[in-house]
Amino acid sequence: MKVIVLNDPIEISKEAAEIIVKQVNNNKGSVLGFATGASPVETYKRIIEKYEQGEVSLKHITTFNLDEYVGLSRENVNSYFYFMKDNLFGKTDVNFDKVNFLSGEAEDTDAECKRYWNKIKESGGIDIQLLGIGTNGHIGFNEPGDKFADGPFVVKLTQSTIDSNKKYFEAVGDTMPEYALTMGIGDIMRARKIILIATGESKAKAVKALVEGQVTPECPASILQLHADVTVFLDKESASLLGDR
Ligand code: F6R
Repeated sequence: MKVIVLNDPIEISKEAAEIIVKQVNNNKGSVLGFATGASPVETYKRIIEKYEQGEVSLKHITTFNLDEYVGLSRENVNSYFYFMKDNLFGKTDVNFDKVNFLSGEAEDTDAECKRYWNKIKESGGIDIQLLGIGTNGHIGFNEPGDKFADGPFVVKLTQSTIDSNKKYFEAVGDTMPEYALTMGIGDIMRARKIILIATGESKAKAVKALVEGQVTPECPASILQLHADVTVFLDKESASLLGDR
C-alpha cells in the first residue's frame, strides 16, 4: 500500500486525476469504478478541466459506481446516480449507455445484485477503482461486521453512516434511507488498481486502522493492505494518527 500525504484536497485531486486520465489515455475503453461523497469531488473537477482542455475524452470508458440508496430513483437529487451526473458524467462526454449503476428501485434486489456482478465480469473487470472511506472504516457501503462480502449485496446502513450522510437528505426535507445496495469487498479487491482519498481529522482513526491496523472486517478498508496496487492519498489531518513512515 502506497501512502502519500499531501497538503490539501486540491493537491490530492491533481495527483488522483492525473492517474485516472493517464489510464484513459493509455486505454480509451478503460473500465473505471467511481465513488460518490465529498472525497472524490475535487478529483472529478480536475478530470472535467482536463476534458474541457481537450486532454482526455471519456467517450469510450465504461463506469461502475460503488453503491446506491435503496428506494431512490435516478432523478432524486440524493441518489448517487444524480450525484455522478451532476459532478462528472453530465459535464464530460461520458456515454451514458456505458454507465453502470446498482438500481435503487429494483424490486428484486438479489437479481439486481447478480446482474451487477455479471456486468462487472462481462466488462473484463475494473481497471481503477476510486474510493473514499467512512469514519467507521467502510468502503463502498461495506459496513463494519464479522465477514467480508464478495459480490454486490443489500446492506443496512449503520448509525455512524446515517449520522455522516443524513445532512444531504435533511437539506431537501427528506429522510435518509436505511438500506443501500453496494459492491462487495470482493468486487473492490478484484479491481486492478485502487486509489483511496481521505481528508480531514474526522477520518484520522479510520485511516490509522486502514494503514496500520489488523486486517479485519471490523474495519472493512483494512483488507486493502492485501491488494497489490493501492495508493492512499491523505492530507496532514487524516494522516495525523499514523506512526513515522
Ligand atoms: C460513496 C461511498 C462511501 C464514501 C464514504 C466517504 O460512494 O462508497 O464509502 O466514500 O462514506 O464519504 P465522504 O467522501 O463523503 O466522506
